[in-house]
Amino acid sequence: MSVASLDTHGADVAVTAGRDREDIVVGGEIVRHRRSSRFIHFAVAATFIVCLLTGLPIWTPFFTWMATLFGGLSFCRWLHPWAGIFFAVSSLVMFVHWAGQMTFEPGEKSWLSPKRLMSYLEYRDDNTDVGKYNPGQKLQFWCAILAAVGLLASGVVMWFPASFPQIVRELSILLHSLTFILFVMLITWHVYLGTAAEPGTFHSMTRGTVTKAWARLHHPKWYRQVMGLEK
Ligand code: HEM
Repeated sequence: MSVASLDTHGADVAVTAGRDREDIVVGGEIVRHRRSSRFIHFAVAATFIVCLLTGLPIWTPFFTWMATLFGGLSFCRWLHPWAGIFFAVSSLVMFVHWAGQMTFEPGEKSWLSPKRLMSYLEYRDDNTDVGKYNPGQKLQFWCAILAAVGLLASGVVMWFPASFPQIVRELSILLHSLTFILFVMLITWHVYLGTAAEPGTFHSMTRGTVTKAWARLHHPKWYRQVMGLEK
């Protein structure tokens, strides 16, 4: 059932409020990500996808067919480093935007054990102390930032190979490939959690809002804070 409510002009009140505010209750919903946060997130996601689709055909002939999406391999070779620069810049903006909210609280490390993670995924976790971002999300954030730095540094070396000694070039190829493989695994997991695994989560990045029930289930401490039930 939709929880959207309209103002006297027919505008969706929660979406309007989510243009420049977040962590507020509007009717039956809570604004989780204001418009700027959503825009930054999808700039990172879109540039990442372009990097992926142009990088795979350069990486191995197995993916050469993908190059036709962008008009051929030579265009992919030209576009990939530029998409990488936009990805790095978007990631930097995301870092500045979110770093303050992604610091680990004391006691959150125990949360990261596989056993605990499984009980969270099976909705058996009864920890009422999960704030706006759980420790898994925070770890995901820091891994994504670290990966962006590794991909940028190694990518620049491969872009201008003549400016670097052979050992640096070889290490960069290794670093770029390894980082990219781990990063794709991380993002696949992230997309799964943000869509199929936790219904209602994807809404937070499109519409900006979540239901109160979603907030109470996944982020109980944040729920209590925005509802004014706790300082
Ligand atoms: C392309 C498909 C993607 C989808 C569908 C997606 C989905 C989402 C959703 C729904 C959230 C909100 C989670 C919440 O409010 O609890 C989120 C948050 C986030 N996303 Fe993505 N995302 C995608 C790609 C990416 C990429 C490529 C990166 C980084 C390189 C990324 C980094 C993040 C970070 C750091 C957060 C905040 C922490 C977190 O909630 O995990 N996302 N994403």
